[in-house]
Amino acid sequence: MLVVKAEGRRSQAEWCEHLTALRPGLRSIPYGEEGLRDEDIAYVLTWEPPEGWLARLPNLKVIFSIGAGVDHITRDATWPRHLPLVRMGGEEIGQRMGEYVAWACLHLLRNGRGFAHAQGEARWHYVPGERTAQDVTVGIMGMGSLGATAVPMLRGLGFPVIGWSRSRKEVAGAESFAGAEELDAFLARVDILVCLLPSTPETKGIVDAALMAKLPAGAAVVNAARGAHVVVPDLIAALDAGHLSGAVLDVFEPEPLPQDSPLWAHPKVTVTPHVASIARRRERARFVADAIGAFEGGQALPNLYDPERGY
Ligand code: NDP
Ligand code: OXD
Repeated sequence: MLVVKAEGRRSQAEWCEHLTALRPGLRSIPYGEEGLRDEDIAYVLTWEPPEGWLARLPNLKVIFSIGAGVDHITRDATWPRHLPLVRMGGEEIGQRMGEYVAWACLHLLRNGRGFAHAQGEARWHYVPGERTAQDVTVGIMGMGSLGATAVPMLRGLGFPVIGWSRSRKEVAGAESFAGAEELDAFLARVDILVCLLPSTPETKGIVDAALMAKLPAGAAVVNAARGAHVVVPDLIAALDAGHLSGAVLDVFEPEPLPQDSPLWAHPKVTVTPHVASIARRRERARFVADAIGAFEGGQALPNLYDPERGY
């Protein structure tokens, strides 16, 4: 049996419909269903599981994350670390994230925030802009599966692209920088910094005043990874001081972004509500159904969380 603990009752029911259609031999049940017995649960598909719940399931075999990030699961100190934890995959996640990153970079390049503001005041703000994409280097922090998918999309628009990750990468069209020792050299070249890192103790607060000071004057920041990566007061200070020219933020801590956050009304900040890459449920259910098929057929599970690396 698979239990879905998702964002709400309706979405849980929809997940179960897709999973049942894709894998009729597997019972897919929404979390909270009456009569559900812990010992019958072999698989869990979840976003933000209640603390202690996973540890209570004696016959659990695999945990599937509803997202590509798994921090919403691993933050529960009791989660069963000995079990395979599968990060959401499938082509649509990369496609959507690539679209978001490309949109955010064009939005910053073409002053989307400024024009929206001027339109709100019925003001003819005639500033065509000096640079084209070819003049603006996009630096992707966290050149993993999503970053690598964004590269050809950005290159297609004309942006030079460089990437930074823990290990060296061979991604066509993007020079690779690796490790803490190459971070400063990477930052010095970046006009738009795109954060696509996983949320780990090492990456928490990584986009802080010290890091932003290493970006060239006039640079901008896009965060589509996790809110915890960006130190918001430092970001606002860098924007207000004129060192940074803009920011596009999709993720926050906490979410939803509180109404009194200064980010909402900031003239250089564009806020989106954690929608950068939410693949359709049917596509994500297909990924899970295929992974269970592989697992039950004795094959390896895809996209496994690595407890050593913490992502
Ligand atoms: P991956 O695990 O494929 O890639 C992560 C990258 O970050 C890897 O290149 C890794 O390096 C690098 N990295 C990790 N830790 C460090 C570090 N300490 N220093 C330098 N580099 C580091 O993840 P994905 O690309 O699939 O996803 C990234 C994140 O995007 C997710 O964790 C999730 O939080 C977020 N996300 C947000 C969504 C949204 O809608 N806003 C949707 C989907 C995901 P290496 O390869 O060398 O290990
Ligand atoms: C994810 C997300 O991790 O949607 O997939 O944030």
